Amino acid sequence: MTEESERLTFPEGFIWGASTSAYQIEGATHEDGRGESVWDTFSRLPGAIAGGDTADVACDHYHRCREDVALMAELGLKAYRFSIAWPRVLPQGTGAVNEAGLDFYDRLVDALLAAGIEPFATLYHWDLPQAQQDAGGWPDRAIVEAFVHYADVVSRRLGDRVHYWATHNEPWVVAFPGHALGDRPPALRSWQAALNAAHHLLLAHGRAVPVLRANGDARTQVGIVLNTLWVDAASDSPEDRAAARRFDGYFNRWFFDPLFKGAYPADMLDFYAPDAPDVQPGDMVAIATPLDFLGINYYNRNVIGAGQEVDRLQVRREDPPGEYTEMGWEVYPPGFYNLLRWVHQEYRPGTIYVTENGAAFPDAIAADGQVHDPRRVAFLRGYLAAAHRAMQEGVPLRGYFVWSLLDNFEWRHGFSKRFGLIYVDYPTQRRIIKDSGRWYASVIRQNGFDAPAGE
Ligand code: FCB
Repeated sequence: MTEESERLTFPEGFIWGASTSAYQIEGATHEDGRGESVWDTFSRLPGAIAGGDTADVACDHYHRCREDVALMAELGLKAYRFSIAWPRVLPQGTGAVNEAGLDFYDRLVDALLAAGIEPFATLYHWDLPQAQQDAGGWPDRAIVEAFVHYADVVSRRLGDRVHYWATHNEPWVVAFPGHALGDRPPALRSWQAALNAAHHLLLAHGRAVPVLRANGDARTQVGIVLNTLWVDAASDSPEDRAAARRFDGYFNRWFFDPLFKGAYPADMLDFYAPDAPDVQPGDMVAIATPLDFLGINYYNRNVIGAGQEVDRLQVRREDPPGEYTEMGWEVYPPGFYNLLRWVHQEYRPGTIYVTENGAAFPDAIAADGQVHDPRRVAFLRGYLAAAHRAMQEGVPLRGYFVWSLLDNFEWRHGFSKRFGLIYVDYPTQRRIIKDSGRWYASVIRQNGFDAPAGE
């Protein structure tokens, strides 16, 4: 530590982890009885995925899960966040259970526990069984019962060993890009369908919470993972400020308010009328079932003004000068600090985990056989320093997970975007720990790091 740097130390027991999701890493899409998912269907649409990539092999994690757990142990991870593929467990969405699918997660969980790594399981990270989509998908209320049944089946098998459960990952992505904007499965363009999908995602969450608790024990912690953006107005004009407020309502408050306040935000309900969701008596109470933790995924801030870019919302996005990742996402750690403070002040969750944060950069294997990714190290330092500052001001952040453990199938971008702490050479499936992975391992070992003063 020099005079120009200061040591940032995290509280004892802080949970250092890394995240993945089933569809993005497992591959083996046609093995051991797995059913089709909506992403399999979507990936086959011409032009849907960059480079025509599919997730049929991905990181081949289904066959290499022990090797991958050994890499997690090498990094010193305290926890690993993964998701369970609904179509592996219930190939038709409901009905017959595929024991072979459950066996895979059984093996994974046992390997994690043997390595001293805490499993954080997410039930739904976007890979809906196609049969469930054919039956009506998220806009149809019947899916709530199907999801609760799925949660029951999985937690009966794993609830004795998995103590951290998230119901959904980023319901906003499923509801709005999937059903209103049409650029993710099921590729619909209906705001009414999107708002009903959002409502059923939230209701399915609320109804699954007591089931996950009942199949666990005193250690069981249940939460949900929301994606978040810090939103700044493009200017102080009343139009731009109102647009920024609307965008925040669309992206953040539409999910936070029902979960923590038991009601949809009134300004947005007015704005969305007549497409408002079909809310039935008792729904909002179920949705607001108290949680053990809130998972936050945070990547970037948006600067929003009035405009026509998303015409239903009457907003436009501006890209201020600065550094951007390969995803076109601004690198701006103060937004992360602001967002964490806002969540704490506005919603008061008892425990927060940052369940995803990270960046895509154009990584390559260097002549020395290593992967040098200084921009990712700088990114992680900046965001961890922002998180540390928020914690010092009382934000109850108890853990942080990098997205992602491995380079993987980045949805519509296929394999063109690399987010991993570990590089994956797809033709050979060789894994190489990047410099950022080694740096993160040192952070975990020391439970902190030296940050340039003022970060
Ligand atoms: C999040 C998703 C995750 C990954 C990252 C980059 O929205 O939850 O699967 O794609 O973005």
